[in-house]
Amino acid sequence: MSTLAFFGGDKVRTEPFPAYRVMGEDEQRAAVAVIESGVLSRYLGTWHDDFWGGPRVREFEATWAEQMGCAHALAVNSATSGLYAAIGAAGVGPGDEVIVSPFTMVASATAPLIFNAVPVFADIDPRTYCLSPDSIRARISPRTKAIIVVHLFGQAADMDAIMDIANLHGLIVIEDCAQAPFATRHSRQTGRLGHMGVFSLNYHKHIHTGEGGIVTTDDADLANRVALIRNHAEAVVERMGVTNLVNMIGFNFRLGEIEAAIGLIQLAKGPTLVKQRQANIRYLERKLAGLPGLGLPPVDVGNEHVYYVHALDYDAAATGVPRELLVEALKAELPVTGLREAEGVLIGCGYTRPLYRHPLFRQQIAYGTRSCPFRCPHYEGTVNYAEGLCPNAERAHTRIITHELMRPPMSTTDLDDVAEAFIKVFSRLDALHDHWLRQ
Ligand SMILES: Cc1ncc(COP(=O)(O)O)c(C=O)c1O
Repeated sequence: MSTLAFFGGDKVRTEPFPAYRVMGEDEQRAAVAVIESGVLSRYLGTWHDDFWGGPRVREFEATWAEQMGCAHALAVNSATSGLYAAIGAAGVGPGDEVIVSPFTMVASATAPLIFNAVPVFADIDPRTYCLSPDSIRARISPRTKAIIVVHLFGQAADMDAIMDIANLHGLIVIEDCAQAPFATRHSRQTGRLGHMGVFSLNYHKHIHTGEGGIVTTDDADLANRVALIRNHAEAVVERMGVTNLVNMIGFNFRLGEIEAAIGLIQLAKGPTLVKQRQANIRYLERKLAGLPGLGLPPVDVGNEHVYYVHALDYDAAATGVPRELLVEALKAELPVTGLREAEGVLIGCGYTRPLYRHPLFRQQIAYGTRSCPFRCPHYEGTVNYAEGLCPNAERAHTRIITHELMRPPMSTTDLDDVAEAFIKVFSRLDALHDHWLRQ
């Protein structure tokens, strides 16, 4: 049995994994064509036909809406700005609460703060890591106005149950689809399961434009309000005939023409790129199945998972090896990935710590020094960001191992090396356990 690289033995592989490079000649040509046209953006922040953006932005929006089967798609410059615009369009404001997940990228929980509303954390389902309908139900108060549901790691939350709750209480549901474009639940695309969907096009995502985002909805009024918040609403409302001025203070969330032109090509490639990830996961999981203490991510009934990351549930009690040590041993066997060398081997412990453990929530300092909006005079609730608030999220944080080593263009040969590293490390758990005891 060969010695683990962690103890000085040979690595399974030294040659870097191929770069996650989803841009090709088509994107290059499209970007050059925009530069040659001389129109890199055509937005005007006043009431004019160009309020809606330039030709590529509009084509990208129309194509996205058609491909995803929704009535409206609005391009923005990130999912973060998309979430802000969606929360604003939902009419969320001071005194309101928005139910959010503690186990997600921060923007999906901080968006309510932008409109002076209070995020209320509900717990996650320990199987899917998405918001648990039961926990949402328990967190609803007379102040609840909306729910931001995150389709984490690439699979949809239990939207059937969540929409039942939302409809019962008259709540707006915003789906954060940043990690789950092209994912479906009961054959329906994410972004169409709630009232609004928000997608990310940053360079880590399934398809990307460097930075960028899309907001989708079937509701014409919500679409209009997202468009207004995206582009200096306050300057436009009067001429546009908008009389409901709630949250009509706009931002500049506009996407450029180059990004939109690239986005059009990426969108067409999306389904193929997703299929490659899914095939890679199937291949890898066949090899990882049965390793002690290593749980493969279950896919909820009716879901098609698109694997933004591969989240493994690691039970250190079953192996006798702490997760951090196991991950160090895995990293020692494997190389970095092209273009992301500085990040080291793309395997890590955990995802995010529960967001309420961030200083923002622990100290309740957001705007200015007076604890707005947590102790805003318009807010009649009492915030709770205490340790123990969401036990499933806290537990997941201590157990998950995530990796990105299934992203195209990883080949089966590359995946064989990933699997070999896991199998090698798991065959020497005894040596790692002894090492840990000696420390
Ligand atoms: C779940 C989730 N929401 C929101 C975002 C924010 O996306 P963006 O970087 O496009 O603002 C991300 C980015 O990683 C994310 O993973």
